[in-house]
Amino acid sequence: MGNKKVTVIGSINMDLVTSTHQIPKVGETVLGNSFHTLSGGKGANQAVAAARLGAEVTVIGCVGEDSFGHTLIENLKQQGIYTENIELVAHASTGIASIILSDNENSIIVVPGANNAVTPEMVDKHEETIANSSMLILQLEIPLESVIRAAEIAKKYNVKVILNPAPIQRLPKELLEIVDYLTPNELEQELLFASFNGTDEELNKLEEKCIVTKGSKGVVMYKNGAIEIPSYQVEVVDTTGAGDSFNGALAFALSEGFDLTDACQFAVAVGAISVTKLGAQAGMPTRNEVEQFLGCGAYY
Ligand code: RIB
Repeated sequence: MGNKKVTVIGSINMDLVTSTHQIPKVGETVLGNSFHTLSGGKGANQAVAAARLGAEVTVIGCVGEDSFGHTLIENLKQQGIYTENIELVAHASTGIASIILSDNENSIIVVPGANNAVTPEMVDKHEETIANSSMLILQLEIPLESVIRAAEIAKKYNVKVILNPAPIQRLPKELLEIVDYLTPNELEQELLFASFNGTDEELNKLEEKCIVTKGSKGVVMYKNGAIEIPSYQVEVVDTTGAGDSFNGALAFALSEGFDLTDACQFAVAVGAISVTKLGAQAGMPTRNEVEQFLGCGAYY
């Protein structure tokens, strides 16, 4: 049994989820089917995924001093996540994501709000927490300079870093060099590689760190060449947070000592199970549920 202390530095959002048969065109109004207010944010989602599986998880992030902020912290506490490192900020409202679900696909607008208050100085205050982690997970819904600072601190203490480069933006080579795993989706990988300013050898090294998530097609990882890990056939209700489930599960499995291929296989199963319920976090399974799913003839 490994050291399962997973630290997540990232966004905490309230997801405002509208489901509709038809996405309106500019200037058009349509009637939707349902509306839900659900806990989300890539950072929080990844934390919940790892915690449900049994990891000891700490979240470092910011919410506003508003009802969404308090509700989101309470939700994380209920998952057994350590929330004392989450700051309530007065000058910004809690991050939200406006999500439209239509035909098993989603469109998302994120308004970061308080997530932008996760500054490099705030990250510095948590150096000890980062140093004592087995794994640090980062995404790009907080300021980039804070992501860089967190990765630098982790590197100083040999703590492994997963960077989920979402939403994608141009990333400095120095950051890409110090993270251990990169988990883009196909589009993010394309943009990441297109904007990468380095030699072919550096690009190859970058590719080797990538685990590319491909939705219902599973993932591709690189170990002496590309290895495809297919996903499972499930009844899809909502794909929001599937990538987050994958990332949280990957962190858990690597902390548990799984080798990379096994960790990816496990995390793909977690991602598949997670899309069977509405909302980013509702479908995230416990370890027992994953084992039952895999043991009960779940098929590719
Ligand atoms: O990855 C899904 C998440 O992205 C949603 O929960 C939403 O909050 C956005 O951050």
